[in-house]
Amino acid sequence: MTLKKIIELEGVNIYNGDKLILEHIDFDLVDAEFCYLIGNSGSGKSSLCRALYGDARIESGTAKVCETNIFDLNRKNLPSLRRKMGIIFQDFHLFNGWTVEENLDYVLQATGWDDSTKMKHKIEEVLSNVHLTSKLHEKVHDLSGGEQQRLVIARAILNEPELIIADEPTGNLDEESSDEIIQLIKKLTSIYKTATVFATHDRRLLEKYPARTVLCADNSLREL
Ligand SMILES: Nc1ncnc2c1ncn2[C@@H]1O[C@H](COP(=O)(O)OP(=O)(O)O)[C@@H](O)[C@H]1O
Ligand SMILES: [Mg+2]
Repeated sequence: MTLKKIIELEGVNIYNGDKLILEHIDFDLVDAEFCYLIGNSGSGKSSLCRALYGDARIESGTAKVCETNIFDLNRKNLPSLRRKMGIIFQDFHLFNGWTVEENLDYVLQATGWDDSTKMKHKIEEVLSNVHLTSKLHEKVHDLSGGEQQRLVIARAILNEPELIIADEPTGNLDEESSDEIIQLIKKLTSIYKTATVFATHDRRLLEKYPARTVLCADNSLREL
């Protein structure tokens, strides 16, 4: 069985405005594969993540993400590409005054779900996967940072994405919560066969949970 390629970058340049951030990079990721993206602050990790979800200027080479050519993203194929991805940031981007359920329900509605029984079951399923079942009716601002990030992960997997892009998802969390987050993401990678790019500068995580790692440095990307 050949594994489906989720990310295929070959000879790609990535820019922030006019500034070349990463030059001539190659990067492949297949189904259910987990990869760390490491590098010093300012080395281009977030720029690469943004390029993958169609929010950075790229030039030259070939670049496909979830079978979409990301050189010609437009108003039609960008939303459909984003629907195949779960994006997780350091800041949670949740509605703080809303409950856990309301935050998830909002995303389901925004992505075209309309059967309330199916929606309820989906919310139960993702909350159970991130161990937040008991928090269904709690407001986000009453959750701990670790719980909020688990809710973000639940939100990211609602539509069973082919790819999770996590940009420093543990940047604001203590060690214990960071461990929970990485364990969860790795578990989901195997349950849903989701490919994951996990940007971090936390060496402790890499040592404790070793996996394939690529390094951003000197305007390029290399496999470690
Ligand atoms: N919006 C922007 N416009 C121009 N330059 C930026 C922007 N965001 C980041 N940069 C610059 O791009 C480089 C790479 O940044 P970034 O991708 O955020 O790295 P990292 O995530 O590894 O810290 C840095 O030199 C940074 O100063
Ligand atoms: Mg960054």
